[in-house]
Amino acid sequence: MPWWYRDTPSLRGLRMGGPYLSSNRGHTLRQVFALTQGYMGETSHLTEAELSDLIAFLHTL
Ligand code: HEM
Repeated sequence: MPWWYRDTPSLRGLRMGGPYLSSNRGHTLRQVFALTQGYMGETSHLTEAELSDLIAFLHTL
């Protein structure tokens, strides 16, 4: 089933770990960003520090 048929999942509890995505191909949040680049938000322009901040934020949910 293509990703656009899926309900957007809750991001609560992400710190419990992967694998993420319905394909289970996201073993880390950085892999999720790389695999979904372009259709699920845009993170390619973020600096290393900003990516770390984003992951730290997602871990608080
Ligand atoms: C930079 C912004 C975004 C971040 C950081 C983000 C983060 C995530 C993460 C971490 C997951 C995996 C959750 C899990 O497996 O439990 C996810 C899945 C998903 N997100 Fe996002 N997301 C973003 C933007 C978006 C946008 C804009 C949409 C809709 C237009 C969206 C729709 C989805 C969908 C449908 C999934 C499920 C995909 C699948 O399981 O194959 N996300 N997101």
